[in-house]
Amino acid sequence: MEKNNGQREVFSSKFAVIAAAAGLAIGLGNIWKFPYITGIYGGAAFILVYLICIVLIGLPVMLAEFVIGRRARKNAVASFQELSPNTPWYLTGAFGLVTGYIILSFYGVIAGWTLHYVFLAITNGFKNQSPEQLNNIFTTLITNPWQPVAWQLIFMVLTAGVILGGVKDGIEKYAKILMPLLLIIIIILDIRAITLPGAKEGLEFLFKPDFSKLNATAIMSALGHAFFSLSLGMAAMVTYGSYIGKKENLGITTLQVTLADTVIALLAGLAIFPAVFAFGVEPTSGPGLVFLTLPNVFNKMPAGYFFGILFFVLLAVAALTSSISLLEVVVAYFNENLKMSRKKATLVAASTIALLGSFESLTYSIIKFDLPLFKGGKWHSFALLDWMIEISDLMLPIGGFFIAIFVGFVMKDNDVKDEISNSGEIEVAWYSAFKVFIRWVAPVAIIATFINMIFGLV
Ligand code: PHE
Repeated sequence: MEKNNGQREVFSSKFAVIAAAAGLAIGLGNIWKFPYITGIYGGAAFILVYLICIVLIGLPVMLAEFVIGRRARKNAVASFQELSPNTPWYLTGAFGLVTGYIILSFYGVIAGWTLHYVFLAITNGFKNQSPEQLNNIFTTLITNPWQPVAWQLIFMVLTAGVILGGVKDGIEKYAKILMPLLLIIIIILDIRAITLPGAKEGLEFLFKPDFSKLNATAIMSALGHAFFSLSLGMAAMVTYGSYIGKKENLGITTLQVTLADTVIALLAGLAIFPAVFAFGVEPTSGPGLVFLTLPNVFNKMPAGYFFGILFFVLLAVAALTSSISLLEVVVAYFNENLKMSRKKATLVAASTIALLGSFESLTYSIIKFDLPLFKGGKWHSFALLDWMIEISDLMLPIGGFFIAIFVGFVMKDNDVKDEISNSGEIEVAWYSAFKVFIRWVAPVAIIATFINMIFGLV
């Protein structure tokens, strides 16, 4: 990063901007969460709703977050204070921080499972295991009280270490090589998965929409996941926007990051569903889906041992580039607003998040701690870990709603236009369309989804 007018660090190149924002966006959401919720909510029709959410809501909200961040050049909370002093708008950023806390608490647990799978891959733990045995391996892991907690702690130490050690730039340099490598591996897995005997059913599941499977809860999940996958609604992209140089084209950056994120998710689905059907895995298996499915694929491909290790290592790295950003959002606030040293801020944030995450992890094994949630017109009960995932799917769109209103109605139109057009240097013929989307389309769609979800209308 370079200094910008002696004020705030900015990314050194266009590529660095995209790589860093894509590193934040691409993570477990694309490869772990997208396939399993697609499995639960019935495939193609759900994917279609997800894509609609990305275009109608995701794109405008991402641009809005970049606008806030680059205009204010501050952290998630202070950016709102800067642009709208002495108003309660800073609460949008504060709400985002709480959401970030919650997300990182379960994110670390799932990333911990990924580390365990790196270990299994290295020790040849998948070899000659039947689909049932691979299922048992996963169940044994998550119902073991200490192993997942230990892996989660290792992952959180890594995350905090990167933030503290200042190797963030180093990580970004690696990510620039490793993320394209992840893409290549997924494409290789796609080819293997599609050519498996019995893959056809999986392809139909992905591409032949059955709208009768769509319900209010599915639509809410699609919206929540669009926010989650693009890292929107919690001001993470505000923080990132504050590091983007004044010469970058925010509109193009938004398009590129969104495209990269969406392509990776779809390719991950393409690697997983043909295999799900070919190996008789339940599409509705939930959070374990990728861990139950892909080891079967590695067992059935040349150099599967090598690809297995590579895949889980890269997944862990993708998780790490997202988790350091999540932690950074909280640390930047503790540091700049609460005047804690960066070291103290990192330690306080990481240790409390790790503690919460450990507790969540134990609700899969020895602690029974369920929480209720009202959706689809009735009450449901979830283990704490699942509850956190569900609740973040609601919190992100709420945050996104306020971000949209803020940019649509509260910020001065001239400031917004100035930021998007780089003070008139770039032609933005689509600006009035953006205004309609950020003022009306995105907020109304979010509210409609919530009303629909609460009352279970569709
Ligand atoms: N988008 C990340 C993923 O897909 C998760 C994330 C959400 C990161 C919100 C930052 C903020 O894994």
